[in-house]
Amino acid sequence: MSAYCSWSKAAFLIFIFHFCFRPSYEMNEVQACTFCGGSSLNGSEVGQFCTLSAGRISGRCCWTHDNTSERERIIGLDLSNCSLTCVDDLKGVSTAVMIDLSMNPIVNMSDTAFQGFSDLNYVILPHDIACPGGNASWEKVAFKEETRVCEGQKSMCNQTGQLSMTCPENSLCAPYGPGFYQCSCAGNYRGYKCLREGEFPAVQVFSGLAAATVVISIILWVTQRRKAKSL
Ligand SMILES: *[C@@H]1O[C@H](CO)[C@@H](O)[C@H](O)[C@H]1NC(C)=O
Ligand SMILES: *[C@@H]1O[C@H](CO)[C@@H](O)[C@H](O)[C@H]1NC(C)=O
Ligand SMILES: *[C@@H]1O[C@H](CO)[C@@H](O)[C@H](O)[C@H]1NC(C)=O
Ligand SMILES: *[C@@H]1O[C@H](CO)[C@@H](O)[C@H](O)[C@H]1NC(C)=O
Ligand SMILES: *[C@@H]1O[C@H](CO)[C@@H](O)[C@H](O)[C@H]1NC(C)=O
Ligand SMILES: *[C@@H]1O[C@H](CO)[C@@H](O)[C@H](O)[C@H]1NC(C)=O
Repeated sequence: MSAYCSWSKAAFLIFIFHFCFRPSYEMNEVQACTFCGGSSLNGSEVGQFCTLSAGRISGRCCWTHDNTSERERIIGLDLSNCSLTCVDDLKGVSTAVMIDLSMNPIVNMSDTAFQGFSDLNYVILPHDIACPGGNASWEKVAFKEETRVCEGQKSMCNQTGQLSMTCPENSLCAPYGPGFYQCSCAGNYRGYKCLREGEFPAVQVFSGLAAATVVISIILWVTQRRKAKSL
């Protein structure tokens, strides 16, 4: 197996071992930005995209501020020329809009590597690696020099947020990365396949908890007071 998933840089072997062979291992954002060394080049596609998006380049990543919150998120990841032979799990960067994996001797890319990447809209791959989710998941597949470019992620849902044929009744379909979709229960429905109707019994649960807390507090107060008196 290691023949397929070896990296040229021995120093990264332990990390790479995880990266390639343990699907449950989640690479976090910082690891994704730093394990390649160097930083995204100004002239690269990710670099240009980052400049256009008013982003900040750190290592191999481009960060921008979320529109709605103060949190920064990764929108670009440049892993080009990184001696990468397999791509297994990039979950830490699932907010990425653009990913560059070109100039890598990739032999194996996991089918689920981009699961959850619902914002992904531009992927640059080595020439002979298929687009994630297949051609059908992209508006346009083009070849540029030594690379394959997958552009414009297609939604697996008929209409995002609408009741869909692909999801069970009473549920909403939402894109979940190239070739993937996610169903979530609509309105008041919940449970397996959204078959049960009714709101989560939040009021009862929380009021029950509150009552229990009050009772325990009173007991404690009484017992502590007794102790205090007897001292
Ligand atoms: C990156 O390139 C742009 C023009 O393409 C330039 O304005 C900018 O200063 C460059 N940034 C760095 C860090 O070289
Ligand atoms: C931020 O959100 C507002 C509306 O919610 C939108 O008009 C604006 O274009 C967004 N800005 C960016 C940078 O996405
Ligand atoms: C790729 O990286 C190697 C060293 O790691 C460097 O010598 C080479 O110039 C790089 N190629 C490009 C196109 O950046
Ligand atoms: C790619 O990985 C999958 C599972 O991770 C494995 O079954 C398959 O044999 C691998 N293919 C190559 C060419 O390494
Ligand atoms: C995907 O599209 C590219 C470019 O149009 C084409 O060369 C390739 O054969 C297609 N792959 C499949 C599996 O249809
Ligand atoms: C969307 O749904 C309609 C029927 O509801 C169907 O005719 C059409 O082919 C669907 N489109 C896609 C892209 O699945």
